Amino acid sequence: MIRRAISGGKFIMSKFNVVFVLGGPGAGKGTQCEKIVKEFGYVHLSAGDLLRAERAKGGKLADMIEHHITNGSIVPVEVTCSLLDKAMEDSGKQDFLIDGFPRNENNLQGWQKAMDDKTTVKFVLFFDCPEEDCVQRCLERGLTSGRTDDNEESMRKRIVTYTQSTMPIIKYYESQGLVRQIKANRPIDEVFEQVKQAFSS
Ligand code: ADP
Ligand code: C5P
Ligand code: MG
Repeated sequence: MIRRAISGGKFIMSKFNVVFVLGGPGAGKGTQCEKIVKEFGYVHLSAGDLLRAERAKGGKLADMIEHHITNGSIVPVEVTCSLLDKAMEDSGKQDFLIDGFPRNENNLQGWQKAMDDKTTVKFVLFFDCPEEDCVQRCLERGLTSGRTDDNEESMRKRIVTYTQSTMPIIKYYESQGLVRQIKANRPIDEVFEQVKQAFSS
């Protein structure tokens, strides 16, 4: 929640607005989120980036996070949700792009339990990208990213996780009428044109 000033020197507590950003590994979520930040002034929070930063601290969670990242599996929601929650609270801002979350049923349930009272999910931006493009983009990114999961073996596992665990979450939000779908296998600027449409509709 964010404290907002109203007239008479009073304050009200106002919910955070959230746009979830989903799509396969390499679908272009991070690339497009950067552009959305510039154009629409959201705060971009990538669940993967927050987990990698937590791993880099080398604390007691580091090994567990590393195991999940390399195996393309999903870190328990208590960890990820509290990183997101803290980042939101610390930012002092109200509008968030939450990239790469919720990625499975555990993420969804944990979010609903902890965050439903203080957030409004505005919509879900879904970057729909064919598997072969996703794989090719991640392998190419792997040449410079230094990521322990941009390799063929991890990629295979990440695709399985995406198909088996994340797609059902996208379907769930579709059933709620909340999904705005983007054709992601187009040049970056063409993808962003669709994104702008999605934000203005
Ligand atoms: P994600 O966050 O969904 O994993 P990224 O935004 O990191 O994806 O993009 C993955 C890789 O693909 C990056 O190297 C990025 O430069 C490249 N990329 C992103 N969008 C496109 C696009 N529309 N066409 C071609 N390459 C792209
Ligand atoms: O989104 P990104 O590709 O950066 O995610 C990298 C990895 O981080 C995922 O494959 C997964 O292991 C982990 N992750 C997670 N839970 C999330 C998001 C990412 O466990 N909600
Ligand atoms: Mg990303």
